[in-house]
Parts: sequence; structure tokens; C-alpha cells
Amino acid sequence: MRLEIKAATQLNDDETDALRALSLAAYPPKPSAAKNPSPIKWARPQWRILIREAEDQLVSHVGVLTRPGLGDDSEFLIGGIGGVMTHPTQRGRGYASAGIRQAADFLRRKLGVDFSLLVCRAELMPYYQRLGWSAFAGDTLVRQDGAPTIFTFNEVMVRAAAKAKPQCATLDLCGLPW
Ligand SMILES: CC(C)(COP(=O)(O)OP(=O)(O)OC[C@H]1O[C@@H](n2cnc3c(N)ncnc32)[C@H](O)[C@@H]1OP(=O)(O)O)[C@@H](O)C(=O)NCCC(=O)NCCS
Repeated sequence: MRLEIKAATQLNDDETDALRALSLAAYPPKPSAAKNPSPIKWARPQWRILIREAEDQLVSHVGVLTRPGLGDDSEFLIGGIGGVMTHPTQRGRGYASAGIRQAADFLRRKLGVDFSLLVCRAELMPYYQRLGWSAFAGDTLVRQDGAPTIFTFNEVMVRAAAKAKPQCATLDLCGLPW
């Protein structure tokens, strides 16, 4: 396994194509998707962790970003991970776990975030818990079409970094979710 962190703007054409193919394999379009596109508008990652195997085959990916946000009235630099995906034929081999660990380390050590945040389906919460994440009990505010909205689409999980994990009542991501 080889992990590489690249700025999202620095991907070459081959990497962009490989990422698109991985995304299509991990999230095959549903027949209803054309009629009912995703109800949520998502932020794009600023960095991408690319996990490759033999012959440079892209097997897994984790997206990373930072966002200045508000916990009640205090300002925080929040680290984000999203777009976690592994090719269906390569699952259960620890690729995503390695990428998620690397992302949390990069956010804490290199990007100096106060804490990190991800959103996931409820069924994946035990998985992220094993990787050191915990459920955020408060409300999470995001923007959709510019309007502040409480995020209820997925579960919200947080992880301590320079500061402890947030205990505030409301966390405002001040932008699109990731
Ligand atoms: C979730 C996902 C990224 C895991 O990738 P991976 O490289 O196989 O992950 P790891 O090998 O590090 O860990 C595998 C573990 O993930 C957990 N897991 C994966 N899918 C799960 C699911 N649908 N429900 C519950 N747990 C799940 C299990 O604990 C699994 O362990 P097991 O193989 O012993 O059952 C991969 O299944 C995937 O791409 N799924 C589709 C996209 C997705 O849902 N991404 C997550 C968005 S938050």
C-alpha cells in the first residue's frame, strides 16, 4: 500500500480519471439519480489522500479540507474528511482505515486544526469510533443555497486535535458540509 497526499488542484489527468472511475465504482449511479439528484450540496476537498496498490492502481481515497467555523460563539479551525471510498473489490483490507488515520494526523500535525469533523451513515459510526472518532451531540449548522440549515442528512462525528473535541450546543460549519 502506498499513501500520497496531494493538493486537489495538483492532480494530473491520469489521477483525475482514476479518481472518477473509483468514485463511479464505489457509488454506482442509481437509476433514479438523474430524476432525483443528491439533495445535498457538498464542499470539495482541498487535499486528497490517494491509496495505491501494485502497478499504481488507485484502490482507496480520503478527501481532506479545513474550514473556519464557530462553536457557539467561539471561532475554531475545523478539519474535515469526506469522500472516503474504497473500490468494491478491495474492501476489508484496511485501506480506508489507513487513509482516515493519515488524514487525522495530517489535519492535526500539518494543518494545525483545533478538531476534526466528518459525517457518515449511522451504520458506519462503530467503524469510525474504532478509529478514534465520537458522535457530536449538538446541532450542526451548514449552508445550503446560502441559507443556514441544521444538518440532519447524516450523523456527525468529531475528533480532538489541537483542542478537545467540541462540546458546544451548536457547531456552525459556515459553509457547505463535506
Ligand atoms: C466504508 C468503506 C470506505 C470502507 O473501506 P475499506 O477500505 O473496506 O475499509 P477498511 O478495510 O479500513 O475497514 C473495513 C470495515 O469497514 C466497516 N464497514 C464497511 N462498510 C460498512 C457498512 N456498510 N456498515 C458497517 N460497517 C461497514 C466494517 O467494520 C469493515 O470491517 P470488516 O471488513 O471486518 O467487516 C467502503 O466500504 C466504501 O467505499 N463504501 C462505499 C462508500 C462509503 O460508504 N463511504 C463512507 C462514507 S462516510
